[in-house]
Amino acid sequence: MNHRDVRHWKTPELLLAPSILAADFAELGAAVRECEAAGAELLHLDIMDGHFVPNLSLGPNVVRAIRPYSNCCFDVHLMLENPVAFAGPFVKAGADHITMHVELEEPRPKLQRIRELGCSVGLCLKPATPARVLTPYLDLVDMILVMTVEPGFGGQAFEPDMLPKISEVRELIRNSGRAIQLEVDGGIDPETAPACVAAGANVLVVGSSIFRAPGGIAAAIGQLRSAAAP
Ligand code: DX5
Ligand code: ZN
Repeated sequence: MNHRDVRHWKTPELLLAPSILAADFAELGAAVRECEAAGAELLHLDIMDGHFVPNLSLGPNVVRAIRPYSNCCFDVHLMLENPVAFAGPFVKAGADHITMHVELEEPRPKLQRIRELGCSVGLCLKPATPARVLTPYLDLVDMILVMTVEPGFGGQAFEPDMLPKISEVRELIRNSGRAIQLEVDGGIDPETAPACVAAGANVLVVGSSIFRAPGGIAAAIGQLRSAAAP
């Protein structure tokens, strides 16, 4: 087991995962370092292939370049048609955790292949995907990621319709008896975070509201944590 992956957290504590998609890419090392200094536990890395989602983002080289700047858990969200082909290069580059989408064909063998790389493994649901599709895979996952916007772009408005799904996923996790983290992603800020935590989320992915905050990254992380603390 990698000491930094999400299996390290046995109980559902509140964890913050800044998403660098909204960061200044010309100053990425400094931004990543500031997140850790401000107490972020994870760093969320959005990987897009222009097929599974209509956007491109970054590849393993960028993950490798920022790895020396942080000891946070590198939480890699693969929005890819073929996550199995790329999971290995991302783990080699420094990923601690890999999440793939449940909407892909036959998730089980894909999850097994990714788990064999030694990282922790997650499944992500798009807004239209119901919680119940997770049931056959709960024995294989360490984190569930509920999208609270359509994946592909940062800076979108939070979809409050996702709150009942967050509660349903928390219930599935409780019934599974396993230590599975419940992460939310999209439009999270000090106003939307409390409802997500109340519904059962314990890992908050936050892009724009941290990296575009007028008061800076550290202050935004502090505000988010105090707003979200249950
Ligand atoms: C969207 C990504 C998100 C995004 C969140 O596809 O999965 O991680 O960066 O950004 P904000 O917090 O700006 O909605
Ligand atoms: Zn993401």
